[in-house]
Amino acid sequence: MRAMQIVRESGPDSALELVEVPEPEPSNMLTAGEGVVIDVHAAGVSFPEVLQSRGQYQLRPALPFVPGSEVAGVVRSAPAGARVKPGERVAGFCGLGGFAETAVAPEFFAFPLGDELDFAQGAGLILNYHTAYFALALRGRLGKGETVLVHGAAGGVGTAALQVARGLGGQTIALVSDEGKARVAERAGAGQVVMLGEGWKDEVKTRSQGGVDVVFDPVGGDRFTDSLRALREDGRVIVVGFTGGSIPEVRVNRLLLNNTSVVGAGWGAYVMSKPELNREVGAAIERMVDAGTVRPIVGERFPLERAGEALRVIDERRATGKVVLDVRAA
Ligand SMILES: NC(=O)c1ccc[n+]([C@@H]2O[C@H](COP(=O)([O-])OP(=O)(O)OC[C@H]3O[C@@H](n4cnc5c(N)ncnc54)[C@H](OP(=O)(O)O)[C@@H]3O)[C@@H](O)[C@H]2O)c1
Repeated sequence: MRAMQIVRESGPDSALELVEVPEPEPSNMLTAGEGVVIDVHAAGVSFPEVLQSRGQYQLRPALPFVPGSEVAGVVRSAPAGARVKPGERVAGFCGLGGFAETAVAPEFFAFPLGDELDFAQGAGLILNYHTAYFALALRGRLGKGETVLVHGAAGGVGTAALQVARGLGGQTIALVSDEGKARVAERAGAGQVVMLGEGWKDEVKTRSQGGVDVVFDPVGGDRFTDSLRALREDGRVIVVGFTGGSIPEVRVNRLLLNNTSVVGAGWGAYVMSKPELNREVGAAIERMVDAGTVRPIVGERFPLERAGEALRVIDERRATGKVVLDVRAA
């Protein structure tokens, strides 16, 4: 089969090569010997692959390896008792191996793909949406009617958070750095959009009548203190990532004075060993797809062999929505 391999850890421009490799065994690193084999139509591209192209991600397989954590395609085979069946359209989380014509996902990470969604949208359905649900519902305990500020709101995780927050009955305020990204956040269903710049925190406080209940933060960096200041009493900042480049530090007296919390949300480490939880989150997302709230926003698309360019889009802060590789012709 055709696949893109990381052959050296030299960054998006030169790390990847198109190769012919044998098809994988029906086995995944998370469930040896019993995975769902998927004929891949589209593969999702995310921050971890950018880091892997430089050898900077925590998961660092021996070279060469096929990256790609999630795919959408058609089931070729599934273990006995699996919820998905051969011939069915699915979204699958495989961890590695997604930038290829065939990939393998654990049974508990393969979800039926509704007719409402195409393969490109399916390739953006697990990492971002499960993270958003995990962060907002399970870690942040978002309640109906609460207001959520979403940083990086035009990005992959950001657009997912806007939709999942709405699906949970929340109101959303999107924070973005330019007009183009404002349009993307609106397309994702943002209730209100605020531009990043001097005074964004005051604008958010005004728009939320005094402060938000939850800040969803995949960016971190130097805006963190203002995120804390944008909270109302009992508010929570949910830490999701650090695309801003630096890891903020918290002066905990602020939390005491204002009765607020900082909550960590690391999806992968938490869910990998909990099959039942993944099924529950998958079912919740499926209900939001059925209700029309979840519609993954697909940004730039590239053919498989141009995966390096896809990584560069993310690396250069140009990504909107989910960046996708088209692996097979539609
Ligand atoms: N905790 C978890 O379990 C989990 C799961 C999945 C992903 N993540 C993490 O979440 C983060 C976001 O992932 P994503 O796929 O949404 O990325 P993305 O699509 O590239 O979006 C990231 C957003 O961050 C903002 N940003 C601010 N400073 C930036 C910079 N220097 N470079 C790039 N972007 C910058 C940008 O928004 P503006 O330009 O509008 O500011 C951008 O839209 C990553 O760190 C990823 O590793 C965490």
